[in-house]
Amino acid sequence: MPTEPGSVNTLIVYASVKGYTQRMAEAHAEGVSAAGGHPTLKTCEEVSKEDLAACDALILGTPIHMGGMDWRMKRFVDTVCAPLWQKGVMTGKAGGVFASGGGYGDAGGGIELCMLGMFSNLAQLGVVMVPLPPETPGFAHGGTAWGPYVRSQAASKAYLAPDELPLTASRSHGRNIATLAECLRQQRIFAH
Ligand SMILES: Cc1cc2nc3c(=O)[nH]c(=O)nc-3n(C[C@H](O)[C@H](O)[C@H](O)COP(=O)(O)O)c2cc1C
Repeated sequence: MPTEPGSVNTLIVYASVKGYTQRMAEAHAEGVSAAGGHPTLKTCEEVSKEDLAACDALILGTPIHMGGMDWRMKRFVDTVCAPLWQKGVMTGKAGGVFASGGGYGDAGGGIELCMLGMFSNLAQLGVVMVPLPPETPGFAHGGTAWGPYVRSQAASKAYLAPDELPLTASRSHGRNIATLAECLRQQRIFAH
């Protein structure tokens, strides 16, 4: 487990069926690395309670399904996160969320509800949530106040090519979360 300053361990947990959310997870990892942190990428199926205990920051990413999170993310929340509730394992660590959706109708297809749902899950664990400020580079084409959003489908419902995805905001979000995690770890503002 990293303990030296500048090597905070940021755990990025994601679900992805077609690879769009995975690409966002990788962009967050790039941002964590740019901040001098250590990113760990795990799918909802791979991640364990030990991974959560070892991290300094936790980032959750999901595709939007029927206006909410993917069932794999919900299972992870209920089976891996919930047993840690009120144990202080995650309290005072940094965290954030991101999501990908088809976005049919230009209104985000449930994006804000989906991300707020994960916000609530992390708040239950005592995680200090990082928003995505509107001045973040790339926000205009990949941002909500709750976290980065990638729209994977055009108005025709055709899937966009991965290299067309706006991922700048995802890199910034990863960098911000890792940076805050370093500050929180040094300050220990939450007493257990
Ligand atoms: C069962 C199902 C339900 C979906 N529901 C929504 C939805 O409510 N809103 C939306 O914007 N996109 C919806 N989508 C589209 C996906 O969220 C979108 O294609 C996403 O970018 C896929 O991400 P992934 O490649 O990480 O799986 C849905 C897709 C599936 C398979």
